Amino acid sequence: MPVIALVGNKGGAGKTTLTVNLSVGLERHGRVVILDTDPQGSSAQWRSIADDDKLPPVISATESLVEMVRDLEQDNDYVVVDCPPSVQAPQTLAILQVSDKALIPVQPSPFDLWASIHIENAVTEARASNPSLQALLVINQLEPRTTLSQLMRDALAEIEVRVADTAIRRRAVYRASALEGRSVYGMGKRGAEATAELNQLIEEVIRT
Ligand SMILES: Nc1ncnc2c1ncn2[C@@H]1O[C@H](COP(=O)(O)OP(=O)(O)OP(=O)(O)O)[C@@H](O)[C@H]1O
Ligand SMILES: [Mg+2]
Repeated sequence: MPVIALVGNKGGAGKTTLTVNLSVGLERHGRVVILDTDPQGSSAQWRSIADDDKLPPVISATESLVEMVRDLEQDNDYVVVDCPPSVQAPQTLAILQVSDKALIPVQPSPFDLWASIHIENAVTEARASNPSLQALLVINQLEPRTTLSQLMRDALAEIEVRVADTAIRRRAVYRASALEGRSVYGMGKRGAEATAELNQLIEEVIRT
């Protein structure tokens, strides 16, 4: 069953935001569990302030991750893994060994994108033992009413990892929902545009 990892080499790119929101959106496609492997524990913290029992459970673990993933795969359709902000972290390296898909959120700045060249190398190395690993860059925090600059397009072209067609915009509702221990799916009308873009990304990830 698909193991989807949110990975990256840059703090604040949106790994945790996408972990929790994609997980809630994925619940329409099956049973979902979140595995929080980041010692910062942000996904677990989000779940601990949530008062909605229907949100996906979050399991925290920073060691024995291969076994943990294999175990969680037994009872779930999707295992969504939040990773620490480093590709050298032992957690990221272990998770790339057992993931079907690595999603790499990047902010639409060439500096952030260049930092993800390291992830390209990590993915290539992980493929030596996990040849079917797929990787997808996801532009996150795209400013509304702006399009990707030419500089950004040039930077993207230098990286050999596929870029998702769906970009996630910068929207206040992503922060507001997290503060309340919710996902954008639990924000009613305020979350409508965010849930629409997430659903589109989910379709893309599922068929990738
Ligand atoms: N699309 C978005 N629109 C608005 N705010 C966002 C968006 N994505 C992320 N954020 C905000 O940006 C900040 C960083 O996001 P997040 O914590 O998800 O990144 P991260 O990659 O998990 O960071 P870390 O590397 O520290 O684990 C958070 O305050 C989050 O609410
Ligand atoms: Mg995080």
